Amino acid sequence: YTNLKPFPRDFLWGASTSAYQVEGAWNEDGKGKSVIDMMDHPEGTAGFTVASDHYHHYKEDIKLFHELGLKAYRFSIAWTRILPEGSGTINEKGLAHYERVIDELLHYGIEPIVTLYHFDLPYALEEKGGWNNRETIDDFANYARILFERFGDKVTHWLTINEQNTLILHPGAVGIPKGGSSPSKKELYTQNHHMLVAQGKAMSLCHELCPHAKIGPALNMTSMYQATSKPADAIAAHNWETLRGWSFLDLAVHGRYNRLLWSYLEENGWTPVIEEGDLLAIQQGQPDFIAINYYSTATIAESRGDSSDVSPRAGDQQIMLGEPGVYRPEENPYVNKTKYGWVIDPVGLRLTLRKVYERYHLPIIITENGIGAPDELTEDGAIHDEYRIDFIQAHLEQIQWALSDGVEVFGYCPWAAMDVVSTHQGYAKRYGFIYVNRGEFDLKDMSRIKKDSFYWYQRVITSNGNER
Ligand code: BG6
Repeated sequence: YTNLKPFPRDFLWGASTSAYQVEGAWNEDGKGKSVIDMMDHPEGTAGFTVASDHYHHYKEDIKLFHELGLKAYRFSIAWTRILPEGSGTINEKGLAHYERVIDELLHYGIEPIVTLYHFDLPYALEEKGGWNNRETIDDFANYARILFERFGDKVTHWLTINEQNTLILHPGAVGIPKGGSSPSKKELYTQNHHMLVAQGKAMSLCHELCPHAKIGPALNMTSMYQATSKPADAIAAHNWETLRGWSFLDLAVHGRYNRLLWSYLEENGWTPVIEEGDLLAIQQGQPDFIAINYYSTATIAESRGDSSDVSPRAGDQQIMLGEPGVYRPEENPYVNKTKYGWVIDPVGLRLTLRKVYERYHLPIIITENGIGAPDELTEDGAIHDEYRIDFIQAHLEQIQWALSDGVEVFGYCPWAAMDVVSTHQGYAKRYGFIYVNRGEFDLKDMSRIKKDSFYWYQRVITSNGNER
C-alpha cells in the first residue's frame, strides 16, 4: 500500500493483566483458594501471594493507567473472591472490591474489559474434579450470571475463558496443583468440552442480561509456517494449525466440532461424551467478537515419531509446540527470539489477524501481546526498555497493515499494563509499562516506576497510533 489505513478513531488502546498475576492479597477479604494458590510453585514463582499487590494499590495503579492514556484496561476477576468455594455463598466483599475497581476505571473514562476466568479455577471445584466434572459447567454459568447481574450496566466488553487452548494443550504451562497429576488427553478433551458448554452458556446469559454488552472467547492464536516444501511438512503444519487454533474457534463461533479434530479424537479414543443439549448450548452462545493473545509464530515439520517432537529445552517456548507422533517444532532462521526463547515475529501478527478474520468474519481485539524481559532499574532511577518499544512498535505497524488489508481490529491491549508475575518465570521476567519495585523474594518498597515504554506508549495513544 502507498498509504496505510489509520487506526479507527474509537480504537481501544489498552493494556492487560490477570487477577492472580497482579493482585496478591491471595487470602484476604474472604477470598477462597484457587488452583494457582495450591500449585507446587517451582522456585521463582513464590510471588503469586503478593504479586504486584494491585489489590491494595489499585487506585494508584489506575491513576497511572489514566496518565498512560489507556482507553481500556483488560483484567480478570478472581472467581474465588466472588464465590470462595466456586459455588454457593457469595462473598460480598469480593464483589465490592471489583465494583470499586470498575468505578475507578469509569471515573477516568477507561473502559473495563473483563475476563471471567484466567487460569485460577477455585480449588474447591478442583477437588470435586474441576473441569472433568460436569457440575463445573453450571458453576461457571452461575458465577458469570452473578457478574453480569452486578456489573452488566458498567462493563461493555467481556471475555469468557483466557486461553482455553493453553489450558487443554499445555496444562503444565499453567500449573498443576500440589499432589495433582497431569491429566490424560482423554480427560483434557472432556474438560475442553465442558468448558465449551460453560462458555456457550455464559455468552447466552450475557446477551440475555446485558443487552448492551459484547462477549467473546480469548484464545492464544499463533500462525504457523511449514518448515519446508516437503508435502508431509505441509500436512503436519495444517494439523498443527487446526488442532491448536481452529478447532477451538470453530466450536466457539460455529458451534460444531471441527472434523479433523474429531477424527483425531476418535482415532485416539479421546472423544468426549456429548450429552443432549450440549451442542445447542454451544451454538446458542454466539460470540460478538474474537479476542486473541498473540506472542509469536511456530514453524512446524512432520513428526519423527520420537521424543524430538517435543523440544527438551526447558523454558524455551518451543517446548509448547510439539505433539509426539503428530508434528514437531522446527527452528525458523528468519526470526529472532527473546531472552526466553520466544520467537519475535510481528509479520506473523498480520498473518494471524488475516486468517482469523477471513475464517470467522468477526471483529478482533488483541488482548495480549508483549515481550518478557529481565528489566533493570538503572542508577538514574529509570528503566530503559527500548526492546519493548521496538517490539510493540513493530507489532503496531503490522496491525496497521492488517487494517489496510481490511481486517476489523478494534483494540490492542498489550501484556502487560504493569509488571506482573509471569506464569512460570516469576518476577524476573517482566512485561509491564510500569515497573514494580520488588524482587523475586525481596518485596522492597513495591513502588511504581514508569518505564521508557510508558512515555512512548503514551505518545502512541495520544496520537491515535500516528506517532510511533
Ligand atoms: C499468556 C497468558 O499466555 O502468556 C498470561 O495469558 C501469561 O497469563 C502470558 O503471563 C506470558 O507468559 P509468561 O509465561 O511469560 O508469563
